[in-house]
Amino acid sequence: MDKIRIVGGKELLGRVEISGAKNAALPAMAAVLLTPETVWLENVPYVRDILTTRELLGSMGVEVEAQENETFMLKAANIGALEAPYELVKTMRTSILVLGPLLARFKKARVSLPGGCAIGARPINLHLQGLEKMGAKCDVSHGYVEASTTGLRGAYIQFETVTVTGTENLMMAAVLASGETMLDNAACEPEVENLAEMLCAMGARIEGAGTRTIRIRGVKKLKGCRHRIIPDRIEAGTFAIAAAITRGNLEVANCNPKHLASVLSQLSLVGTEISMGETGFRVRGHADISSKNVTTYPYPAFPTDMQAQYMALMTQGDGTSIITETIFENRFMHALELMRMGADITVEGRQAMVRGGRPLTGAKVQASDLRASASLILAGLAAEGETIIDRVYHLDRGYFQIEKKMAQLGAEIERIS
Ligand code: EPZ
Repeated sequence: MDKIRIVGGKELLGRVEISGAKNAALPAMAAVLLTPETVWLENVPYVRDILTTRELLGSMGVEVEAQENETFMLKAANIGALEAPYELVKTMRTSILVLGPLLARFKKARVSLPGGCAIGARPINLHLQGLEKMGAKCDVSHGYVEASTTGLRGAYIQFETVTVTGTENLMMAAVLASGETMLDNAACEPEVENLAEMLCAMGARIEGAGTRTIRIRGVKKLKGCRHRIIPDRIEAGTFAIAAAITRGNLEVANCNPKHLASVLSQLSLVGTEISMGETGFRVRGHADISSKNVTTYPYPAFPTDMQAQYMALMTQGDGTSIITETIFENRFMHALELMRMGADITVEGRQAMVRGGRPLTGAKVQASDLRASASLILAGLAAEGETIIDRVYHLDRGYFQIEKKMAQLGAEIERIS
């Protein structure tokens, strides 16, 4: 099992290019199931979740060919199995995104329940309720969702909770349904908007993606397309915090700063200098980091996927900050590991109180989930001495060669197998 070894104290300097967004590429790959024609996806990040999705689609009969420069050619012409088996879904819960497209095009699907993960129960009730409103029958038994329909119909669906993949799943179900579907209280994440762009390029009729109300008018069939995945705003935010916590000076290129405006404004608030461009931004870390509270909310507010990384930064703050996590019920595991490095954190339910003002010291720590592993890397960059992070397979799910990118920026970091 790979580990990451870091010796802290080096400031990050230079330029980093951001990869494509995992959370935009995953729904885009599922959307390929909606047409028998060829789809080209550009700027796909070579992270583990993408390779798992490639394996899942392959098991259904989808042709998936990785071309050069992060481009995938996919073709769902000869679909055999309409099933996402447990063996694959248990390693990548986002497989639930094949449910909507399979029902829309083939009127049948058997998908393993994703189950929980380290950060929470991760229920899919809102996905299933929406599909049932559209005329699907969803039976849950033996750890699988058995879904079928005589034909999906447009419906009015109001989400009681904002759900990103719930919005994506139902948008993909609605594009081939008969009639019009309204998704109310929909997720506004850039990844949702990017998926809608792809579906429209395939011939779908979607309005309002990126807002809380999305209107989809069903069409008879969809064609192939060429679609570019947006840059990963969470990877960009992670590097921004890496520059802040090491007091470095970094140009973060190939990204859309507007997609992480809430993160960059929070960093300005704590004293980091940010200068925004069109396709990137510059981050200058300052010696003094002010402790500032933050609460996670759905986009466009501060994202839950940046909470762990921000906590690492707040351990270096000049006072006390309160971090409130409103999206997931158990997303503070990284706090326990940061405490092993000397951080002073008190967790009470959905709130973590971080007292700064004490340097971190390197230690052996363990990653528990994808963003927790990023948080431990950031802490290791700032800690005095050596940090060894175990279970970095979590990291590889969502970051492509992050240790190589950081080493090129001057960090003393390496992967040890
Ligand atoms: C997406 O997960 C992202 N994953 C997550 O990123 C991200 O943290 C999350 O959105 C929130 O922004 C992908 O896009 C692949 P949700 P998703 O449905 O869609 C509750 C990462 O680190 N809920 O928006 O699974 C749920 O329990 C990952 O890249 C229901 O109750 O999250 C949670 O409290 C981690 N019933 C809240 O909604 C449902 O049917 C938001 O979850 C669905 C969700």
